[in-house]
Amino acid sequence: MKDALWPLLRSGLFRLDPEQAHNLSIRALSLGLAPAARLAADPRLAVQLAGLSFANPIGLAAGYDKNAEAPEAILRLGFGFTEVGTLTPRPQAGNPKPRLFRLVEDEAVINRFGFNNEGHAAALARLDKIDPLALVGVNIGANKDAVDRVADYVAGVKTFYRVARYFTANISSPNTPGLRDLQARDSLRELLSAVLAARDEEAAKAGRSVPVFLKIAPDLTEEGMDDIAGEALASRLDGLIVSNTTLSREGLRDQRQAGEAGGMSGKPLFDKATAALARMRKRLGPDFPIIGVGGVDSAETAAEKIRAGADLVQLYSSMVYGGPGLPARIVTGLSRLLDRDGLASIREIRDTRLDHWLARKL
Ligand code: FNR
Repeated sequence: MKDALWPLLRSGLFRLDPEQAHNLSIRALSLGLAPAARLAADPRLAVQLAGLSFANPIGLAAGYDKNAEAPEAILRLGFGFTEVGTLTPRPQAGNPKPRLFRLVEDEAVINRFGFNNEGHAAALARLDKIDPLALVGVNIGANKDAVDRVADYVAGVKTFYRVARYFTANISSPNTPGLRDLQARDSLRELLSAVLAARDEEAAKAGRSVPVFLKIAPDLTEEGMDDIAGEALASRLDGLIVSNTTLSREGLRDQRQAGEAGGMSGKPLFDKATAALARMRKRLGPDFPIIGVGGVDSAETAAEKIRAGADLVQLYSSMVYGGPGLPARIVTGLSRLLDRDGLASIREIRDTRLDHWLARKL
């Protein structure tokens, strides 16, 4: 699709129910209807992190391709990596519809999907068929009715070990009651020790170690962040993803839909998620891998995440508004930014605005 066609396609999609539009877009991608982005490789954008080589730092965040239906088509749009899931061991229907809301004026989204997904087996069958070198992470979670939540995460690591380039343990969805409680210090210690032990066991069998990242909420207190940072550094966790959607409705103009329950994402999440990211960078030091997510919709906002401490960046909501050409525009924009500033690597801008973001309120 030519970028010029996007406004037309967008107005058509925006006439549909948001979840229908979402399903249609996945179907189109999985059928190969989106042509590949023609991006010249720019070695200045390459990032080495947690033992992985990313061609560029821009990834698609979890929740779009929950069931691993189109990871390779997504990568062809220009993303340096993509993350499938959240996947739970057993399939589950999620919350009653409607459960996805477009706040167009705010370029925001509210969702309360509640981990609707086809379960481990269905996604594994699809991932078994893709190029094993494709940079696809697997985001894992727990079934709503799990008796032992930790066991569900462990099952995720074991099931997907042979196909995942990295794992994300998602303990920050606001739409599974009690899930965020796993962020509390003692629960987190138990979760990390079980998940990382499972990883180490699989690594010994496979002869290669798959990194495990932890995805946290933007709605933490300073003390909550201290706890997570403490556990992250005390364990062999490979990285942190900051952040998931927020329960806050700050900055929304669309008061009519602001009252919908669920997690809010998109443009109005940028400041809060970036302030949280900077705080975790400060706590974790310069060498701990961090992926910044929340409100990225341009090369400039992607660069700002990196300046605030991110090694890699993910986005989701801005695809709704910017369309399938967005990742290529962002990647090209980052190359231009490096040209403009005469930089040899995107790494050079990391942390350059850490102090600015530390001074911002959470
Ligand atoms: C999400 N997100 C999400 N995250 C996750 O870890 N597992 C999931 O299943 C989902 N599902 C999901 C559905 C929808 C509709 C949205 C909009 C988001 C959160 C997502 O990955 C990301 O962390 C936030 O949306 C913030 O980034 P953006 O959207 O502001 O770029």
